[in-house]
Amino acid sequence: MTELQKKILDLKQEKDAIILAHNYQRPEIQDIADFIGDSIELCRKAMSTKAKIIVFCGVDFMAQSAVILNPDKKVLIPSKGALCPMAQMLPADYFKLWQERYPGVPTVLYVNTLGEAKALCDVCCTSANAVKVVEKIPSERVLFGPDSHLAAYVAKRTGKEIIPVPEGGYCPVHVLFEKEDLLKLKQKYPQALLMVHPECPAEVIEVADFTGSTSQMCRFAKETEAKQLIVGTEIGLIYRLRKENPDKEFIPANPEAICTAMKTITLEKVYLALKEERYEVTLSDEIISKAQQSLEKMVEIVS
Ligand code: 13P
Ligand code: SF4
Repeated sequence: MTELQKKILDLKQEKDAIILAHNYQRPEIQDIADFIGDSIELCRKAMSTKAKIIVFCGVDFMAQSAVILNPDKKVLIPSKGALCPMAQMLPADYFKLWQERYPGVPTVLYVNTLGEAKALCDVCCTSANAVKVVEKIPSERVLFGPDSHLAAYVAKRTGKEIIPVPEGGYCPVHVLFEKEDLLKLKQKYPQALLMVHPECPAEVIEVADFTGSTSQMCRFAKETEAKQLIVGTEIGLIYRLRKENPDKEFIPANPEAICTAMKTITLEKVYLALKEERYEVTLSDEIISKAQQSLEKMVEIVS
């Protein structure tokens, strides 16, 4: 453990803080986190923690969800640059226009959206539960955003008509995976299983052996008998996979699949976040109470 890591742990104790980290965070941050997980697991932790301060090592929409689900806590995000580009693709005003265009059609928003948009939808979902949430909605037509690839995946798995909003929303990291590259890797490692995230394009998901959220991939990797796995998601997950499965080999499907927003969080910034209690994530009471209903409905549906 480095001096800086020790200083962070001392400060964390002194301030009664908890460090929550997403699976894509840098290894040195994963190593000092109290909890590492995918979006739904981080929501649950944020809801249940008794700590006074939550230092959220993830991107903007995740830290906002922590505020929405536990508004009495002080939620800090160590970097102002941790902005998920997909969440910016669905401004609340634009979403409202689409809701008006499809009156009576239920709306499901991926958690990768900002609080203002979440406040307008009927229910939220994460990559771990999108199929289940849409299945439970008593309608054959659903307005779904902002990821058009996740929308297509949900449409295929549920058989429902999924209307993507906006048309063509995407994650800049997961569109970097290409079917041809994956087929070549499968040829090179014939014993390996391919895991991908549902934010990947449909033709990539088609050639995968497993599709799931980041933590679902961790569980799959642990449980499968396969000794080699090709990983079709952001490379940060590979650190956790290797740590938890030292006897298995993990092959990045694309070593350039890096989420720069996630990587803006560094140990130095986590230290300063704790020391100076910066940068506090805030939302209006109105947004919090409306978005809370959409997030809590998701938690209720999947529990
Ligand atoms: P998970 O919920 O699967 O961790 O996904 C979050 C995310 O932003 C994927 O790009
Ligand atoms: Fe957003 Fe994609 Fe980064 Fe996930 S990997 S936080 S969806 S940009």
